[in-house]
Amino acid sequence: MTKKAVLQYIRELNFFLRAKSHYILDRSCKTNPALLLRKRTHHLERYLFAPDSYSPQFAESVYNDIKKVLSCGDMIPPAQRKWSEKIVSEYEATIGQNLKTLCPMQLNNTARRQSPITPETMLNLMQQRRSRRIFVNTPLTDPEKNAICQAAQSAPSSCNRQTLYLIFVEEREQKEFIASTVPGGHQFFSAAPCIVLLVSDAGDYRYPEERTIPFIDGAAATENICLLCETMGLGCCWASYSSFSCINHEKDVRKRLKIPGTHLIVSSLAIGKSDQFVCDIPRDLPKNRFWNDYYGNR
Ligand SMILES: Cc1cc2nc3c(=O)[nH]c(=O)nc-3n(C[C@H](O)[C@H](O)[C@H](O)COP(=O)(O)O)c2cc1C
Repeated sequence: MTKKAVLQYIRELNFFLRAKSHYILDRSCKTNPALLLRKRTHHLERYLFAPDSYSPQFAESVYNDIKKVLSCGDMIPPAQRKWSEKIVSEYEATIGQNLKTLCPMQLNNTARRQSPITPETMLNLMQQRRSRRIFVNTPLTDPEKNAICQAAQSAPSSCNRQTLYLIFVEEREQKEFIASTVPGGHQFFSAAPCIVLLVSDAGDYRYPEERTIPFIDGAAATENICLLCETMGLGCCWASYSSFSCINHEKDVRKRLKIPGTHLIVSSLAIGKSDQFVCDIPRDLPKNRFWNDYYGNR
């Protein structure tokens, strides 16, 4: 047990040292210009919201980074380029102005759009979602896969990095192998029409304090997928499956799925059409689970 834990720590350290050197060696936009653009544009947007909270030098250096990345040609998806150029032009239009906010939406008091979904509907969906572990043998359709991917992509991510990729494992032998490496899912994962693995391009999470963030991003996306599956009549069960801790034979998994060395595996899901009825699983009453101002205070 101790030997296993030490090996895992060494692997983790090794990964982050590699990721760090990878980032330092490539401050340009060769490795992942789109990621750099998302992150830096997010920083500039934050500056526009509250310029007082940042130094003008910070904004200028972010602005310069963005201009450099925007010159990377067709490596940037058009929608991201458009968003980034919009923020850049807002910044350029307000340079030197001493205002509490420089964001045009804030300055014009633009009202947010009201959600068409009621809190009751949303809460119902969250309460209806169940982990389902018995599936009908029907493959996922392309529109279903597309929607699942969009659900994952709609999740929040640290610094707007958006690092997640999905691998839909459906081929029988490949699926059986992956299922056998899921510690809490080997009993039923291979019977699902599809195993979905979430991997994070984690090279940019280069500081020790950020080492858990790819997994947190992954959890947010995974829950989005579970909720969407509930609305589509798809059964879904999340199983712990994260690099350095709970993947059996991770090295073989990475090799078989051709996962790049800079990417971390962050979660796994068994997904497929399911008619399984799962009893309601009670949760504690909210009044027993929240406090005001400090733990234990009613
Ligand atoms: C991080 C995480 C890991 C989980 N791992 C497993 C697992 O390995 N095997 C499994 O059958 N279920 C797993 N589950 C599902 C839980 O058992 C399930 O969410 C819990 O029993 C509550 O049931 P519900 O999802 O139907 O509300 C996991 C859930 C989460 C959030």
